[in-house]
Amino acid sequence: MQILDGKLVSEAIKAQLATQVAELKAAGKKVPHLAAILVGNNPASETYVASKVKSCAECGYNSTLLRFDEQISEKHLLDQIILLNENADVDGILVQLPLPKHINEELVINTIDPSKDVDGFHPMNVGKMVSGLPAFIPATPYGIMLMLEHYNIPTAGKHAVVIGRSHIVGTPVSILLSRNTNPGNCTVTLTHSRTQNLAEICRQADIIIAAIGKPDFVTADMVKEGAVVVDVGINRVEDATKKSGFRLKGDVKFDEVAPKCSFITPVPGGVGPMTIAALLKNTYHANIGLKG
Ligand code: GUN
Repeated sequence: MQILDGKLVSEAIKAQLATQVAELKAAGKKVPHLAAILVGNNPASETYVASKVKSCAECGYNSTLLRFDEQISEKHLLDQIILLNENADVDGILVQLPLPKHINEELVINTIDPSKDVDGFHPMNVGKMVSGLPAFIPATPYGIMLMLEHYNIPTAGKHAVVIGRSHIVGTPVSILLSRNTNPGNCTVTLTHSRTQNLAEICRQADIIIAAIGKPDFVTADMVKEGAVVVDVGINRVEDATKKSGFRLKGDVKFDEVAPKCSFITPVPGGVGPMTIAALLKNTYHANIGLKG
């Protein structure tokens, strides 16, 4: 069993981006600039956005963090996005989700200029991705593909079972894995809360992508010997022994599943850091042009 070390791989990707950004700077060109919007103070969102901003600095990017109160009106938020769309110095715009209930997320996403949509959530980018055209790929699925690529994991002809059909992870990763690319060329089964015989389907998987948001959901009896398991879950579970009062748990019961796997991602230190590396790659491409 080999651990897929997202921390290590993401550091290598960030080091490469830092070199590329230094070259841009040396050539007198503009460095990438990410603008992140955080509404309210959801503790998980705070952590994610702080990591994104910190990673920008590590790679020599500029970043702007715009924070707004939970009570911000939808109109005011949309106006802020329009200002960022019009600001030629800003390459990438990210609105951290989830947003408060009174704000229409779809409207917010649709307002972001697709050429600055480094989360890849705008329907224009989703449509381009599905069509196999150059597009911003959502960061978590992109990070998973970069991880599979880095470890040269054979995917062609393999049966990949994706658990969870979210727009952020499950749906896009199932599309990416089924494409005629490397990694890719998988036969994909996209499962969800209404799937019957889920355990049986998972047992047929060569690759499992667990993105359901339920701690310890995938147990050893659901995993075939030698499977590749990618755990996307970042579940906060109470733990009185921790200073923070919680610890992170994946969607996979790691201790019992890991011994059966050929490769497995840990939580933390697996998909999480890869998501940030992928976001930085998208932001770099927003700066130099998608096909650059
Ligand atoms: N919330 C959970 N995942 C994501 C993500 O990838 N991007 C944004 N903007 N918000 C999220």
